[in-house]
Amino acid sequence: MYFDFGSLPAQTCYNLMAATVTPRPIAWVTTISESGVLNAAPFSFFNVMGHQPPTVAIGLMRQARGGIKDTGANILQNGEFVVNLVPEDLVQAMNVTCADYPAEVDELEKAGVQIKPATHVRPPLIESSPVSFECRSLSTVVTGPEQLVVIGQVLAAHIDERYILDAGRGFVKTPELGLISRMHGGGWYARSTDLFQLNRPEAPM
Ligand SMILES: Cc1cc2nc3c(=O)[nH]c(=O)nc-3n(C[C@H](O)[C@H](O)[C@H](O)COP(=O)(O)O)c2cc1C
Repeated sequence: MYFDFGSLPAQTCYNLMAATVTPRPIAWVTTISESGVLNAAPFSFFNVMGHQPPTVAIGLMRQARGGIKDTGANILQNGEFVVNLVPEDLVQAMNVTCADYPAEVDELEKAGVQIKPATHVRPPLIESSPVSFECRSLSTVVTGPEQLVVIGQVLAAHIDERYILDAGRGFVKTPELGLISRMHGGGWYARSTDLFQLNRPEAPM
């Protein structure tokens, strides 16, 4: 079936993309406001965008009640954020932080998660996340009314020692991280357990 996005309601475009571009990794993003209120929210429009310099991108849609999401407002104000990755045992806490709390509410406190300080930026790491990336915004692209793509440079990674295979070469025991990802609508998630391997071919001379 052909879908012309120019003639479809925005919600249908969202549904079509979110139901097909799957699975999507989840960035559980911590930020801080100018007045020092901590914020946390999950974003699955997220991925690595390059490594020289190391970059990530996150897509933030408009808040349901209108306006830029608190995460976006904080990043626009001070450029600092931490991406924490989400294993299955953190999914309930992560879910608490996606509720539409007002800007003055500390969602980390609501979710009951412990935090620890980052090295380069003011937003904290989520202590129980096995992987956290400290990031500074390189650019924020306004892609629509109150809709943003944040492109950030990764300044440092914190990876739980238990999952390090070879620190020198940056090898990690990825399957053991047990990270979850976002699937289609209605609160569906995927585990990263059904794996297969395919080696890259050599180009014929
Ligand atoms: C697993 C998951 C993934 C999400 N991904 C996104 C996303 O990619 N972009 C977005 O704008 N909202 C996304 N949301 C919704 C935001 O987390 C939600 O709007 C949140 O309240 C934003 O918080 P903030 O205003 O504190 O930034 C997602 C929610 C969940 C549960």
